[in-house]
Amino acid sequence: MAMNAARLRKIVVCKDLGSAMPLLTERDDLEVIRWTEDRPCDRAWLLENVVGASGIVVCFQDQVDRELVNAAGPSLRVVSTISVGYDHIDLKVMAEHKIQIGYTPDILTDAVADSAVMLALMASRRTGETTSFVKNNQWPVFNWMPFAFCGPQLSTTPFSPTRTVGFLGFGRIAHAVLARLAAFGITHCIYTPRPGAAPQPARDAQLQARHRLAALTPVDLPTLARASDVLFVLAPGGARTRHLVDAPFLRQMKATSVLVNNGRGSVVDSAALARALAEGWIWGAGLDVVDEEPEVTAAHPLVGEPRCVVIPHIGSATLETRAEMAGLTAQNVLAGVLGEPVPVALEY
Ligand code: DGY
Repeated sequence: MAMNAARLRKIVVCKDLGSAMPLLTERDDLEVIRWTEDRPCDRAWLLENVVGASGIVVCFQDQVDRELVNAAGPSLRVVSTISVGYDHIDLKVMAEHKIQIGYTPDILTDAVADSAVMLALMASRRTGETTSFVKNNQWPVFNWMPFAFCGPQLSTTPFSPTRTVGFLGFGRIAHAVLARLAAFGITHCIYTPRPGAAPQPARDAQLQARHRLAALTPVDLPTLARASDVLFVLAPGGARTRHLVDAPFLRQMKATSVLVNNGRGSVVDSAALARALAEGWIWGAGLDVVDEEPEVTAAHPLVGEPRCVVIPHIGSATLETRAEMAGLTAQNVLAGVLGEPVPVALEY
């Protein structure tokens, strides 16, 4: 039997959680208000519906700021985001109001690492150009030539026995990428540590031994730019990382290098990258995230670049991982509104 409306705890859901929704909707002690359209949740709808909510389910497209927290009012206990990234959440405001944050680290690590390696291969082996070539009916008139459509090889070869992989952002996903690249015979790994972070020689020695690397070294940004054959951007977004990859950075990269971004679009200056590709400062780019997303159309300069492979922020989009993420997001918000410990809570 339905409980008195006044005793129902309200949860506003900005993203449909698919098979995990019944965890919330089948309870008679919750009122679940859902954004059901197939596009990012309208801010005005959210501000109107969040009044009196105990929990909110968001994704990285929804800004969780003072305006939203004030609109919800003092009942708000938890924000559960279906993402590992949390640069869309104002941590200062959350701390002021003692609101818990649920998020989904770890379970998406492998899916994102897989897609990072995929993008590195696609960008170096010119998949954007070659798939367009076939779609444009050019294969039948193509005179196969030894050097047509060649690109730099990701794996080492007896003739090219060293390969340096660089990481801007060296957390869990970077480590999972490195593990995959060990099979490609990568010999050297460099990364830039988070500003102010203590050096981690023991961890680095362990990673180096595990992946049989000749060297694994923390470096500064200019060295990262200059020495990487493949550079993976896996840094979080926010003011501290905004446009770290800009024109001066890109100008220092090798002409045969490939840039992959699976972190946040804001870390890479799109205009500078488009110029770097058009003028051959670097070989190619594989992007899962773009600064201007989701406003990335065929007219975007990066989409028009033949050596740029762009996919629409789907690094974690496997059937298995998204189901896990949705389940955890529902569990996190449920625990938070019931006043129980949130299963995977951000420490902040
Ligand atoms: C995240 O989790 O932060 C990704 O960007 C979306 O899967």
